[in-house]
Amino acid sequence: MSHPGRPNVSLHPYAGRFDVHRGLPDHGISRDQILGEIAQMSKEEDAKGDSGRVSGSIYSGDHEHYGFLTEAYGHFAHANVLQRDMYPSATKMESEIIAMTAAMLHGDEDTGGLITSGGTESLVTAMLTYREWGRKQRGIEHPQVIMPVTGHPAMNKAFHYFGIELISAPVTDEFVVDLDFVRDHITPNTVALVGTAGTYPHGLIDPITELGEIALEHEIGLHVDGCLGGFILAWAEDCGYHPTPFDLRVAGVTSMSADTHKYGYALKGSSVLLFRPKSLRREQYFIVRGWPGGIYSSPSMGGSRSGGLISATWASMLALGKDGYRTIAADIFATAGKVKDAVRAHPELSLIGDSLFNIAFRADPAGTASADGGPIDIFHVNDSLASNGWRMNGLQNPPALHFCITRPNTQEGIAEAFATDLATAVGYAKEPPQPMPRSGAMYGAGGQVPDIDKLTTGLMNYLDATHEVGPDAP
Ligand SMILES: Cc1ncc(COP(=O)(O)O)c(C=O)c1O
Repeated sequence: MSHPGRPNVSLHPYAGRFDVHRGLPDHGISRDQILGEIAQMSKEEDAKGDSGRVSGSIYSGDHEHYGFLTEAYGHFAHANVLQRDMYPSATKMESEIIAMTAAMLHGDEDTGGLITSGGTESLVTAMLTYREWGRKQRGIEHPQVIMPVTGHPAMNKAFHYFGIELISAPVTDEFVVDLDFVRDHITPNTVALVGTAGTYPHGLIDPITELGEIALEHEIGLHVDGCLGGFILAWAEDCGYHPTPFDLRVAGVTSMSADTHKYGYALKGSSVLLFRPKSLRREQYFIVRGWPGGIYSSPSMGGSRSGGLISATWASMLALGKDGYRTIAADIFATAGKVKDAVRAHPELSLIGDSLFNIAFRADPAGTASADGGPIDIFHVNDSLASNGWRMNGLQNPPALHFCITRPNTQEGIAEAFATDLATAVGYAKEPPQPMPRSGAMYGAGGQVPDIDKLTTGLMNYLDATHEVGPDAP
């Protein structure tokens, strides 16, 4: 049995290989050299995602598709779409992206939208919208939003930025929002509820129909976070599955986010935020009338925005079409089924819910005991998987892993290799060589705790360090 070692997660693996730039070079460097360095770094870094052993993160993995999108991007990368008189193409493409997304998620004629830079901006914008709506329509000065604990931290960011009070709803044994809690905690200050369609931790869908009923009863907003799940769950019915209703067909849903840069297979930096009714969108438009620079108006958080991301997103959606999305989704659902079977084969493990695409599993407290008599530690499982090249995401409360299935994971043989390596990992976790697992639950670090033992005071220092120029040599 292999003994997993700490993977190389150095922040500066290029030290000693490429020049370190602490200021502008005195003279411009040749394009060939620059492109050579970029190509080398991207080749090395893409190898991990292309291996098919990474959870989430890389959604398409099709380099021909990326090449096509990059060409589409290149035509408008330099264009600032704030200048609509210069770039009417942005109006065409942006409105069509919104319309196509709204149609996919069954919006009606009173559904409108925005394109944002990603899931976080969509969620932050949605929360701002409800705060503004509450203030203007209801005179609410201390807005509250009820969100399950599984809601994405981008919304916590919004609550922090905008002075919204979070009422944090627990989840049931099925890991979806506890509706009784929600019902019991609505107050005159509640401006909106949040449900997720495809939670980040467990890939599950909150009971959106019931949340919609509560929202309608109290005449408040309901945001469905479909950032992760929107563009994949949309195809589930066509593929013969019956997901919990989650989209704009559900009465009471007043906004929904769906990320084009995830299962929309567009380039990074785009998401769609839909509003119903359309007029809700206006709550967050921003206009300054008396500015010496001219009357300023902007439809969303950003100022200047690149037309390239809009053209690349539009190109991705048109090139795939319904049949393209459906075909990839069917492969993802089938692979997810095999991964679930692999987990079910081990009494030491148990699935958390039954997601169609994002498979969360933990050590089953009732499962076969490890050598020391307790349940196995799921992070020992992760250590072993990592030593075989897998990059799972580590979760907490409860400790668990998830394998969010994307197109690269659908390559032939990947699900079978996972089953084999998972069996090895369970064996490893029963008699681990050291009691403390090396991995843990840290968002964005692939279940691995990065080099923080070399950094002195934890996460703040780590975040600082990711913004500092590295050493000249390793
Ligand atoms: C459910 C959910 N919402 C929102 C986000 C945030 O998206 P982004 O990272 O694009 O800001 C994620 C990211 O994984 C997510 O899974």
